[in-house]
Amino acid sequence: GKRVFSGIQPTGIPHLGNYLGAIRHWVDMQQGNECIFCLVDMHAITVWQDPIQLRSQIIEQAAILMAAGIDPQKHILFNQSAVSAHARMGWIFNCVARIGWMNRMTQFKDKAGKNREAHSAGLYVYPNLMAADILTYQATCVPVGEDQRQHLELTNDIAQKFNHDYQIDFFQEVQGLIPATSARVMNLRDGSKKMSKSDPSEQGRIELLDEDDVIANKIRRAKSDSEPLPSEVEGLENRLEASNLVSIYAVMANQSVDQVLRQFGGQGFSGFKSELADALIQHIRPIREETKRLLADEAHIREMLRMGAKKASAIAEPIVSKVEEIVGFIK
Ligand code: TYM
Repeated sequence: GKRVFSGIQPTGIPHLGNYLGAIRHWVDMQQGNECIFCLVDMHAITVWQDPIQLRSQIIEQAAILMAAGIDPQKHILFNQSAVSAHARMGWIFNCVARIGWMNRMTQFKDKAGKNREAHSAGLYVYPNLMAADILTYQATCVPVGEDQRQHLELTNDIAQKFNHDYQIDFFQEVQGLIPATSARVMNLRDGSKKMSKSDPSEQGRIELLDEDDVIANKIRRAKSDSEPLPSEVEGLENRLEASNLVSIYAVMANQSVDQVLRQFGGQGFSGFKSELADALIQHIRPIREETKRLLADEAHIREMLRMGAKKASAIAEPIVSKVEEIVGFIK
């Protein structure tokens, strides 16, 4: 088995992109690996978060992950700030990474937009903290969506530079695990934008706590085009919205895109969309209902997170202490 690490921001409700790009695979990877899943509250505050809301979203997010199949007893589920190793390692990595590396990060450019200067310094060095998250556990396998690819490359750059600067073979290469289908789920209303929590309109995303009728509605009103569905993959070229819906269906129905097109090729979108909505509802309903059940006992969720933080610390502490020693700090 491998040591697996991944994280998610506890802001808003996870959507279908988070689920298909990451969470679903986290659940599967629990078989045969040692998994560490982190609610990255320190990353969350790189943009403003209302404290009361942040606290309740950490609990809610933990419940959703458990409902989706993350097992906090056999594996580790915790919130980042509860393990101080992240901050300590993050600082050291701020001093390893170069400003030029930060300037190349496309996610920062996307998030900061034109008004770069008005954003927090934390948002700028966000990827260094992410590298710290992973390397603090010497994790080698990181299941994420496509949008995190560049951050994983940076993680390896930091690991390499650290090894080189301190002349020690300390960090191993980190392997990203990016799914072949649905690594980048697109906005239902605009197939050129990724599905995102920060999009002001909820119509473009399906959230894991959406009610059945809300899911059906969002799919019915999802953008498509006027052509029938193609019978072959080539026919999806330049049809962003159609491609997105077909990929989602493929994953939901556990089929290949080819199989889906063989079934629906030549048909219009309305019948396909209603099948898609049904598949989504069948999948999401149990997660939603289990989340509600779990949220009735908040103390239990807090207890799971506390236990997770304890187990995480036990792994992280010796590694971060070693790094501090390598760097020359006195304990
Ligand atoms: P976050 O919270 O934005 O997203 C959590 C996971 O969901 C994936 N994802 C998507 N996958 C497919 N289609 C989409 N539209 C989509 N949107 C999001 C993300 O790729 C991610 O895997 N920086 C990270 C959190 C993080 C982390 C880490 C991840 C912090 N430290 C260490 C791995 C390892 C983030 O903001 O994810």
